[in-house]
Order: sequence, then structure tokens, then C-alpha cells
Amino acid sequence: MVKSKVWTLKQQFDGQPKSSDFELVDEDLIPSIGSLEWKLLVYFQYCSESGYEYNTQFYFSEVLVEAEYLSVDPYMRVYKKETGKPMIGSGVGKVLKSANTSYKEGQKVFVNAGWRTHAIVSDKHSPYEVRHLPPLGDLPLSAGLGVMGMPGMTAYFGFIDTCKPKIGETVLVNGAAGAVGSVVGQLAKIKGCTVIGFAGSKEKCDWLTSLGFDHVFNYKETDVKTALNKSAPKGVDIYFDNVGGQFTVDALPYMNTFGRVLVCGAISTYHDGSPMLMPNPFMFILQKKLTVYGFIVTDVLNRWNEAFPEMLLWIQQGKLKFRETVTEGFDKMPEAFFSLFSGGNIGKAVVKV
Ligand SMILES: NC(=O)c1ccc[n+]([C@@H]2O[C@H](COP(=O)([O-])OP(=O)(O)OC[C@H]3O[C@@H](n4cnc5c(N)ncnc54)[C@H](OP(=O)(O)O)[C@@H]3O)[C@@H](O)[C@H]2O)c1
Repeated sequence: MVKSKVWTLKQQFDGQPKSSDFELVDEDLIPSIGSLEWKLLVYFQYCSESGYEYNTQFYFSEVLVEAEYLSVDPYMRVYKKETGKPMIGSGVGKVLKSANTSYKEGQKVFVNAGWRTHAIVSDKHSPYEVRHLPPLGDLPLSAGLGVMGMPGMTAYFGFIDTCKPKIGETVLVNGAAGAVGSVVGQLAKIKGCTVIGFAGSKEKCDWLTSLGFDHVFNYKETDVKTALNKSAPKGVDIYFDNVGGQFTVDALPYMNTFGRVLVCGAISTYHDGSPMLMPNPFMFILQKKLTVYGFIVTDVLNRWNEAFPEMLLWIQQGKLKFRETVTEGFDKMPEAFFSLFSGGNIGKAVVKV
């Protein structure tokens, strides 16, 4: 019998997520992977009695994974979740047992099984998912959740592949010291652009300056209009938007004609119960003839392999730096999650299980 600790969603979020929305439970993983043969017998019997075809792949593909790092991400606030079920999310960890020829015991893997310490996952026919890690070289395992994982791929495909930056263009990115934004700004520098970044503290702004951002503003101290009047005299060509809401309303007038806007996220609005009433942005989209992209990184999951070699090379060459905010302890999953909405993280937020 394998025991797992699991954070379940006790009730749907209402406004800012809070501790009472979660419950920490113990779960017995039954049948454990050790009883595969038993499961198989029952299944064969069931199939022959009911006339179904055997599907042995389902049973032989299972892997028992122990999480080492779990990710906390803003999407967990807005994606659909079921009450009483494990909180959604992914992690990286070690294969403890395997009945799958693609995964060996002791191997490190990516696992998408929610907020849990242990999971039995399959690469086929399972609500949960196990995947091979990207090439990490000497990077820490947790980088598979950050710069070489979902946020890094969001930056790569959202910015390079979708916005197609050109040398000399001006790029605006908000949430700039976060997992996605910090990579976007550095990719923009690699591509020869001028970068304007907005973040929520002096420490974050100092880090962005050290990364080579050309103009950095603490949006809590300098309003967007004042900042862009100063830093974007020739206007903005690419706006990579992680924040949405009023920031976007204030930023759009600074876009150049035929500029590109990548709508990556809108974290400033995630707790809003009802739609915010704001000036209509479509007049600016019309007047400036902007191209606005909606982008979801999982739509290009089958292309992530294209980005890994270049991203790893840039990291190894020191052109792309990354930072993590590591919260220690599975018990602290909710706190680490809340912290995303109060700006507590610099770079990728992860929990060391
Ligand atoms: N489209 C996709 O496929 C995709 C994939 C990944 C992420 N995203 C989106 O991209 C954005 C960034 O995600 P991430 O994983 O990189 O998170 P992150 O930036 O590492 O963490 C969230 C950060 O957002 C900032 N923030 C929180 N509330 C804010 C507010 N009201 N106004 C302005 N800033 C606020 C905080 O930094 P400050 O201290 O600077 O305020 C916080 O540290 C999110 O909107 C997320 O939903 C989209």
C-alpha cells in the first residue's frame, strides 16, 4: 500500500483564495502498483465475460511517482476545478516503481497529477499524466517546472514564435519578474530589442536591471502613463501582457501602428467576481491596426521539443538567467499559491516537497 498526502479543493474560490478553501488529506493509492498482476487478472476476466477486447497497455503503462517539487501557477486560480478532488497542478519527481518500459525506477520525470506527494500515473488512458523531462543539463530538477517547463515554453512560443520580434523593436512586458515575464524580457534582449519591464517591488526591479532590461518600473510607485512617456518615445511594437485590466487600458495608447499584443494572462483580474467595466480597448486596436494574439501554451505542447535545445544553450551561455522562489514543505502548498497574488515570488514559484 502506498500512502499519498493530497491537497483537495474543499470549496470553490470566492475572490482571493484562502486556507479554508483547501483540505489536506491522506490517500491510500489502491490498488498500488505492486498489485498489477492482480488487476490484470480481474481485467481479463471482466473482458472475457463482457466481450471487450483486452487492452494490456493500460495496465502495463503505470508508474508510481514521488513528487520532489510541485508547481504553483496563476492558472490554478482560474481553471475549472472539482470540489472534493485534488487541486490541479504538476510537478517533477522520481519513479519509485514502474510497470512501463519507457520509465525506469529511479528516473526523474514530469508528472501532472495535482497537489499530491505520490501518484500512480500512466502515459496513456489516465486522468493523470507522466512525461519525460526536458534536457536539463546541470540545471536543478525544478527548472523542469520553470524556465525549461511550462512558463519558459510560454515565453518562447508566445514571444519568439508568435510575436516574431525584430532587431530594434521596443517590447513591453508586465509581470516582468515572474516565471514567464523574466524569460520574455531576456529573450527580447537576445533578439536585439529594447525592453521595458514592470514589476511590483524594488528588489524585483533591481534584478531585472541586472538582467539587462533597458527600462524598469515599479508599477506600485510609477503609473504606466508616466513610465511609458519616459521610456517609449518611439512607441511600443510588442506588448506581452501578463497582467491585463487597467494596465492594458493604460498601455494600449502607446502601441505603434501594426503593433502586436500577446494576451498571455490577466492576473490583475483573476479574483474578480464580475467583469470589470473599463474603457473599450477596441478603438485602440482599430486605430493602431494592432494584431492581438490569444495564446495558450498547451496548444503547442507537441512543439516544446523545438525550443529545449536553444533555451538550454542560452542558459548555459549565460544569456538567459533564471531564479526560483522555493517554499519548503508540502504542507505549505496553499501559502505558496497565495503568494503569487501578492507578488511574493521572484521568478518561478515552486514547492519543495
Ligand atoms: N497563456 C498561457 O499559456 C500562460 C502560461 C503561463 C502563464 N500564463 C499567465 O502569465 C502570467 C504570469 O504567470 P507566471 O506563471 O509567470 O506567474 P508569476 O509572474 O511568476 O507570478 C505572478 C506574479 O504576478 C504579479 N501580480 C500578482 N497580482 C498582480 C496584480 N494585481 N497586478 C499586477 N501584477 C500582479 C506578481 O508580481 P508583482 O510583484 O510584479 O506584482 C506575482 O509575483 C499570469 O497571468 C498567468 O496566468 C499564461
